[in-house]
Amino acid sequence: MEKTYLTHILFVVFCLDMVMRVCCQDYPSAEVTAVYIVTLKHAPAYNYYDELRKRNSVSKHGSSPVLSRLDNPGNVSRSDAQYCYILRMHDSLLRKVLSGEKYLKLYSYHYLINGFAVLITPQQANKLSLRREVANVVLDFSVRTATTHTPQFLGLPQGAWVQEGGYNSAGEGIVIGFIDTGIDPTHPSFADDLAANAYPVPQHFSGICEVTRDFPSGSCNRKLIGARHFAASAITRGIFNASQDYASPFDGDGHGTHTASIASGNHGIPVIVAGHHFGNASGMAPRSQ
Ligand SMILES: *[C@@H]1O[C@H](CO)[C@@H](O)[C@H](O)[C@H]1NC(C)=O
Ligand SMILES: *[C@@H]1O[C@H](CO)[C@@H](O)[C@H](O)[C@H]1NC(C)=O
Ligand SMILES: *[C@@H]1O[C@H](CO)[C@@H](O)[C@H](O)[C@H]1NC(C)=O
Repeated sequence: MEKTYLTHILFVVFCLDMVMRVCCQDYPSAEVTAVYIVTLKHAPAYNYYDELRKRNSVSKHGSSPVLSRLDNPGNVSRSDAQYCYILRMHDSLLRKVLSGEKYLKLYSYHYLINGFAVLITPQQANKLSLRREVANVVLDFSVRTATTHTPQFLGLPQGAWVQEGGYNSAGEGIVIGFIDTGIDPTHPSFADDLAANAYPVPQHFSGICEVTRDFPSGSCNRKLIGARHFAASAITRGIFNASQDYASPFDGDGHGTHTASIASGNHGIPVIVAGHHFGNASGMAPRSQ
């Protein structure tokens, strides 16, 4: 169970990483306008499906066949209808409150929250916040993709790590495989030279560690226990560029090293870029291999 929980966390971390890369761009905006996230009091679509589920489970026998058909979030026509209903709610509120004024709605959120993102002035934001149907209005803000804060953000030091016996055993016995741009074996996140508590020799691991000119013998250790590269297709198709790619497990890009360290990197590794100290990094399952 605990291992499943950690796996889920890892998955969430990857998703967060992706979401942040996609979403956290600055919108071009005029001087006096800004993007606000407006949340409404009316329940989102998820709540609607939950209600239906509850109503359905109360009437055991002879439960209405119509209800059981509706009680299916996967029902496209139903979720479309619910989406359109909430969308109309947003547009009509904006039309009513900002009648004749300029505004630009960027997104409507309907499933987990009922709200929208809109480019408006602070005065318009104030008008919206005074409405009875509005729960809150907050200024949108940019988020840095600084992974040094992720364990705290996910509550791992007081949560999953404690259940696993602390960060120095969280992930013990788990081998994580990455398919990515490669890995830098000299990165301290993958060092196995822990003074106490040496990494165990994995019992059932049968993967191999390739040796190439860029990935010499000794690149693997008890933390980074295997690595292979698969460039034959790119080479055959003539799209392999030897001045930026390596025909080896070595990471010519940095992305693979980054994602592997998020999931599995050692705990307490100082992150210093151009003299700036960004804090200490840790994998989410620092004891995994
Ligand atoms: C979805 O809901 C509609 C009623 O709105 C119903 O006619 C249809 O059979 C449902 N489809 C599924 C796959 O449950
Ligand atoms: C290979 O990569 C280098 C460095 O990024 C680039 O300057 C060069 O144009 C690339 N060659 C080809 C054939 O794409
Ligand atoms: C970061 O780790 C170093 C040891 O590598 C330690 O001295 C320092 O206190 C740590 N900093 C934080 C903010 O945890």
